[in-house]
Amino acid sequence: MYRLPRGTSDIFGANIEKWHWMEEKVREITRTFNYREMRTPIFEHSELFARSVGETTDIVEKEMYTFTDRGKRSLSLRPEGTAGIVRSYVEHKLYADPQPTKLYYLGPMFRYENPQAGRTRQFHQFGAEAFGSLDPALDAEVISLGMSFFASLGLQNVVVQINSVGDAESRPRYRQRLIDYFTPYEQQLSAIDRSRLHRNPLRILDSKDPATRELLTEVPSILNSLSKEAAEHFELLQQYLSDLSIQYVVDPLLVRGLDYYTLTAFEFYTEIEGAQAGTIGGGGRYNQLVGEIGGPDMPGIGFALGLERVMLACEKQSCGPTDHAGIDCYLITFDHQTKKAAVSLLQRLRQAGLTAEVDYLGRKMKAQLKAADRLQAKFALIIGEEELAAEKVAVKNLQDGQQIMIGLEQVIHYVKEQRSVI
Ligand code: HAM
Repeated sequence: MYRLPRGTSDIFGANIEKWHWMEEKVREITRTFNYREMRTPIFEHSELFARSVGETTDIVEKEMYTFTDRGKRSLSLRPEGTAGIVRSYVEHKLYADPQPTKLYYLGPMFRYENPQAGRTRQFHQFGAEAFGSLDPALDAEVISLGMSFFASLGLQNVVVQINSVGDAESRPRYRQRLIDYFTPYEQQLSAIDRSRLHRNPLRILDSKDPATRELLTEVPSILNSLSKEAAEHFELLQQYLSDLSIQYVVDPLLVRGLDYYTLTAFEFYTEIEGAQAGTIGGGGRYNQLVGEIGGPDMPGIGFALGLERVMLACEKQSCGPTDHAGIDCYLITFDHQTKKAAVSLLQRLRQAGLTAEVDYLGRKMKAQLKAADRLQAKFALIIGEEELAAEKVAVKNLQDGQQIMIGLEQVIHYVKEQRSVI
């Protein structure tokens, strides 16, 4: 017996309807915000993720699915979508087009994590990235895009937490302030936080270790280390969010698990059924990333939402697609001759845009009617010997049980007309 690899899932049955529903909402919302889809490979050169996500991040150090291909290249399954999108933006010189360039993506990502509710090794993200503008109104648009998506699903109580992680001027200053603050407590820090102290002290703010967390109550706020421009950007963002009636909370301890952020950083939270982490998405600005991976000096901002987590949140709030509508017609046959007539009618019904099914298991009429019921068919189209001889079909309305004879040529027209009144 083969089993699923740990941390992955098969999506089928009623769940696939939910995924289609969510994916349709993604397409609807991104269209109104004028973001266009980009599809990048599922794997990239490992180096790209080290350069962009950051060599000292958990994602790159511990969570990537990295392999060497037959040409001896080191490749990694993408742990997130931004790196590939930025690579593509640079590679195809999209920066030469009139800016901003606004893109979205939808697809599987891979991280070797400890699987639990809402945390899997293959998961799906809906992400959006906008390049080429420093305007804080674009930061607000990106956050608003995420919030509008949640609203379109009917999800309530989503809170966005925001912070500024500073710019090239403020970051080194804050980094030093953190090192100065934590150094006297170095022995109190967990081994992992101690190792971060000089490599990536901002990551300590995200520590799960209780002893470290106690030290965070007094930690200097990044908001006091911001340059004038960074502070102004953050202030304007908040004004735009208020204008858009987006409820936000400023959290000066919010740092993200990826290194490419500058200025705005944010996360979306809501309650999730059975999961510890209620973070359903996150994002921020990355004004240096395009330049760092070989492009011109072009700013960017974006987010990614974890769709499995969004799905769990939907379950908690009982949001979902309206019931899957049944099929239009189920064709009932009795022998080879009537089956032949049914198969041609089946094709014509489908060509006319109707959903139609026939029995392939040689079942008795009663069992065929049961099958029609299971598929929530609106009509059973019965083709027996008599009907065949008269070139007619017995059309049974499965809602009210009424049955009438219709000419073989008129049946499509009849079903189309009747189905709209059911
Ligand atoms: P991230 O915070 O690493 O950011 O991931 C975004 C979201 O993906 C998380 O909030 C979570 O909902 C979901 N997610 C992450 N890991 C898992 C997992 N193992 N299982 C299930 N869901 C997960 C990024 O990926 C950035 N690329 C976001 C971004 C785009 N920033 C700028 N542009």
